[in-house]
Order: sequence, then C-alpha cells, then structure tokens
Amino acid sequence: MHLRKMWLKINGANRMFICDPEKDTLADVLRRMGLTGTKVGCDKGVCGSCSVILNGKLTRACTKKIKSLDEYSEVLTIEGIGTPGNLHPIQAAWINLGAVQCGFCVPGFIVSTYALLHENVNPTREEVRDWFQKNRNVCRCTGYKQIVDAVMAAAAVMRGEKTIEEITFKNPSDGEYYGKGVLRPTALAKVCGLADYGDDQELKMPAETLKVVMVQPRLAHHAKILKIDTSEAEKMPGVARIITAEDIKAAGGTNIMAEGHFHERTTIMVPNRNVLCEDRIFRYGDPVALVCADTKDHARAAAGKVKVEIEKLPEYLGYLDAAMPDAMRIHEDTPNIFARQPVLKGAGLEEPSKVAGIIDNSEYSAEGSFFATREPHLSIEGDSVQAYFDEDGMLAIQCKSQGVYSSIGRIGNSVGISRDKIRIIMNPTGASFGWSTNAGDLCLAAAAAVITKQPIALSMTYEEHQHFSGKRRPCHSNGRVACDKNGKITATEFEFGMDQGAYTFGGDDVITKQVRFAFFPYNVPNVAGISRIAITNHNFGTAYRSYGSPQAFTMSEALM
Ligand code: FES
Repeated sequence: MHLRKMWLKINGANRMFICDPEKDTLADVLRRMGLTGTKVGCDKGVCGSCSVILNGKLTRACTKKIKSLDEYSEVLTIEGIGTPGNLHPIQAAWINLGAVQCGFCVPGFIVSTYALLHENVNPTREEVRDWFQKNRNVCRCTGYKQIVDAVMAAAAVMRGEKTIEEITFKNPSDGEYYGKGVLRPTALAKVCGLADYGDDQELKMPAETLKVVMVQPRLAHHAKILKIDTSEAEKMPGVARIITAEDIKAAGGTNIMAEGHFHERTTIMVPNRNVLCEDRIFRYGDPVALVCADTKDHARAAAGKVKVEIEKLPEYLGYLDAAMPDAMRIHEDTPNIFARQPVLKGAGLEEPSKVAGIIDNSEYSAEGSFFATREPHLSIEGDSVQAYFDEDGMLAIQCKSQGVYSSIGRIGNSVGISRDKIRIIMNPTGASFGWSTNAGDLCLAAAAAVITKQPIALSMTYEEHQHFSGKRRPCHSNGRVACDKNGKITATEFEFGMDQGAYTFGGDDVITKQVRFAFFPYNVPNVAGISRIAITNHNFGTAYRSYGSPQAFTMSEALM
C-alpha cells in the first residue's frame, strides 16, 4: 500500500491527512477526520446522504475517489454550513417544517439545498423537486412535502422576505402536547450532522474492536451444506477468529433464534432459524460463518476466501410452488402451509358456502385474482451493530432494533449468553420501517462478542444488508364482492396465499391482517374468507409499514 499525504481546504480551513489514493473516497477521508455528518448510506452514489460541495459543485462523496481531487480543493460539508449555536436558515427550516424524521438523509439534503439556493434563490416547488431528483437526494421517511416546504421557507429567509423567527414553529406554551405538533427533540443534532448513527458509533469504539463480516455464500436459495472450509481464510492478514455454527454451540448457544420465546401475539411460532447455518441453506442470503478481523477490509477479504461446498435442493420461490400437494417440506418439522386464518360473518358463520350463493344471486358482482409483490424496506441507513461487555458485565448491543426488549427474547439462548445478561441500546436510527424488528443481526453481533470476548462492530454493506434482512411478504389473492341494485354490499368471499419466505417468525400473526382488513372499512353483512401462509425459499417476511394490510387492499380496493 502506498499512501499519500494530502491537503484539502475543508469548511474554510486547510486540513492535512494521509490517504490511500487508490482506495479512499472523499467520504472515507472526511469521516476519518471526524466529519461524520457526511453519511454513507448506499455507498454507490444513489442515495445522496454523502452530498458535499466540492469546488463549488454538489458532489456525492462516497463515489468520489480521493485520487481524482487536486490538492487544496475546497470542500464544504454539513459541519461548515451551520452549528447548533448558529444555524443556517436551511437548517432552521428543516427543524421547523418537520423535514427531519429519522434524519439520516438530512445532512445530504441540506448540503444539496445550499447548492441549489446559491444557484437559484427563488426556485419553484417543481424546480426544488427536479433538483433533488437530478442530484439523487433520497428520503424514505417524509414523503418529500415537508422537505420542499423547508426549502421554500429557507429561500424566503435568504431572500430577506422572512426572518428565521417567522419560520420558527413554537411548541405549545401550555405544556399540553397531546394531539399537537411539536419539534422533534433530536432535530438540532441531525440538521448539524452531529447525530451519531451506527457507523458513526463504530468510529468511536476502542482500537481493539474487531470488525465482523458475514460469509454469505449466495450460491443457492436452498441447499445442503457439504463442507465449510475456513483454512485459507484463517491465514489471511488481520484475521482474529472465524466463527461457524459449531463455535456457537461450543460456547453454549443453541444456534436457534428465539427458541422458547413467544411473540406477544404469536401462537404457533416455530423456532426454525439458525444464527449461522448448520447443514442447510434455506434462502439466498443465509450466513454460514463470521470473520472477525482487525479491519473491515481484512475481514471482507478473508470472508471471500471461505469455501462453501453445497448440493442444491429444490427451490420453492413462491407461495404457489410451496403450496402444491406434492411439494417437499422445506423445514422437515413444519408443513409448508404452516398457518391458516379464516373469517366468517353472517351467512358465512352458518355455512361458508352460503356466501357464494348470496354473491351468485346478487344484482351485481365483481371478481378477480391479484398479486402484491415482495418489497424491500430500503431505509437509507443500512445495518450497523456494535456489541461489547459493559462495566456491569452485561453484553451491550448497540443497534437500530425496533424492539429493544422483544429483541432480547428473539436472541434467546441462541449464542451462549443468558437473556438477563443482554442489554440492548438503540442507536440513532436511519429508519427501518420494520426490518429491524428482527434480531438476526443482533444474534450475529452477540455471537461474535461472546466468542471473541472482544468488542465487535458489524457493519454490513448495503448489498449484504439487502440479502440478509426480511422483506414485505408477497401475496396472491382471489376475491369476489357483490351488491344489490342500490349498490349496497351483500357479501364477499376471498382467499389469500402469502409467501413467508424461509423462516416462520411472525407469519401466523401477519395473516390475521388480511382477514381483518380485506374490504375494510365497508359494511359487509356476509363474509367467507381465509388467509394461508407458506414457507418458501425466498427471503423471510417481516414487519413492514402497514404490516399485512396492503396485501388485503391490493385485492379488496381493486374489486371495489
Ligand atoms: Fe429522510 Fe429518514 S428523514 S430518510
């Protein structure tokens, strides 16, 4: 490795650093210098969280190679735009107009807006939207209206037409907050780039922290594992430890997530997910080992040297395949269709087939078959977890879990530490929308900390995170609805077939949603419906905004 000493003029001051010109990006260098307001989300130049202004031009720092920069180039980051004691009007507007939600995208948007308003201080709303579209600033939380509102308000201040005081939202003075808008308490840190998300926390860990990378073979959706050969990977530079399922068991863990734990609403949850695969891969993103090394690059290089031999098995990549009567069981202890939830009302309660008769004899009816697709959550921040034993002897896991207490049960006894020794701490979170209700990533981090007895940091690439995390469940549906000559609904009948993916967790809970929400909120006197859910070899289903009801509306609203 040949390093270069270099200077850049960052936020008005000349700053020196040492870099690897072949590898480092501008974002790497800025973040190493402590300027962590420049966030890295996708790391592919498409989400805009890393936006900075380079020599007057808006630039995505995560793909800008440092070797392409001239010495003393001028860089403006979020930290150079305003500070908590001296906010720029754009930052003030973001706080006051509700444009800060998770906040991960916010520094990039504010830098981008700064560039826009220095080019055109009087843009239309359409020009603002076009600017963000052109410059690839993406927000998954707000829906953009508040962002455009904030730009318009900041522009009015910058034109001298309004004061910051005039665009400042006042929290209720009577101390009565219920049902009223209030300023988000974390907004100030977020608009200044001072909120530390997972990867920012990782930079503040002690030097001996091991970096953990998953070995995700990505060879098949369903396979027998014949051999995992770690011998070459173990000799790679910086490798401290390679962990497989055997090591987790040797440490006293069951290697089975959530064993003995029951979700508060789940009745028949089957614990069938390994922390690390043992003899089977059940989906494309299943991890088979963890590499713990001194640097992320070393860990990733070694992970690429772990050899996994497999024998492919039949792959069921959708509900209809897995539900066939002659389909082989994906998990030997569980039928592929592992839960059913009926709903019966009126004539349906007396005899379900009577509902079909009512529909047949009604004045008008509509029927159809529909499919709601699988969806990734695509939070702008990916997955970043830190784990260490704290001063109370507890295993502290810093992460973006949406259930800091339920996650303890989901880790269960899987990794060789008892539940009462686990403490989960929620980092500032660059959104989740449901995927972080699942604790698979926490199990991996916990296993690495328990086995190495060292602090560890697990930060997935966006691609690894996408292959690892759960998704919205796809769903087939057939439905009929009928009404009388006045348009009054007489009856509905419907069935849903939902694809749970490889692991059952939460599947019997989510199917209660289709039967509750199909044809909601209409008054339907007679109903015969059922929802079924099947294990497949696709990515597992998990919580997602509106959890299970969009699949119902895909059918019922189309028919209405
Ligand atoms: Fe924009 Fe969360 S506030 S991604």
